[in-house]
Amino acid sequence: MTDPFDATTSWLRSQPSLTGTAPSLDPATLDDDPVLLFRTWIAEAVDAGVAEPHTMTLATLDADGIPDASTLILKGVDDRGWAFAGPRSSRKGAQLTAHPVAALNFWWQPVVRAVRVRGRVEEASAEDTAADLAARSPAARAGVAPGDWKLWRVRPVRVEFWQGEEDRRHSRIVFVRSGGTWARSISGRAADAM
Ligand SMILES: Cc1cc2nc3c(=O)[nH]c(=O)nc-3n(C[C@H](O)[C@H](O)[C@H](O)COP(=O)(O)O)c2cc1C
Repeated sequence: MTDPFDATTSWLRSQPSLTGTAPSLDPATLDDDPVLLFRTWIAEAVDAGVAEPHTMTLATLDADGIPDASTLILKGVDDRGWAFAGPRSSRKGAQLTAHPVAALNFWWQPVVRAVRVRGRVEEASAEDTAADLAARSPAARAGVAPGDWKLWRVRPVRVEFWQGEEDRRHSRIVFVRSGGTWARSISGRAADAM
């Protein structure tokens, strides 16, 4: 069914976007490590009343190179990467075996902030996987076949922090992994104060 500039299109265009209120962003005190900045931002999202801020979109690649995306819960973030878990026998499990790469996206509407993470994916240790499974509710554990649960980590090569601004000069803080350290660049409104 074609939709030539009809009611759906104009209805979509009339929907408001970027209606939240961003917390202040001071480049002088900005964390210079993406893990620290992510922890700051997710805490500020919680303070602003964002529900379930640890919910994210995971993008994977299937054996034919066609992308897929699903909604997951973030299980941890530290120097080893951003952790997520699911059944190894799932579609995403097969996709991660075929192509151990992924991207993650967070969108926190009330604070007009989004975070993107991309990199290679590594399987966590058996101990970390067991700890994650043990932390699930008995009901959630019951649905998992023995040995099927897996914890993975995205080891980021690029992390982008995006903040919508009222004047539409949106702020971007981009971290790129280079030679074992992070290079950080700031653009948009946040760069004005530097
Ligand atoms: C809010 C929310 C959180 C979810 N969290 C997870 C999760 O942490 N792990 C998981 O395997 N699936 C989770 N799911 C289900 C996945 O989105 C997906 O439907 C399921 O894992 C099967 O995907 P697959 O067959 O492509 O692997 C969640 C779904 C929603 C809506």
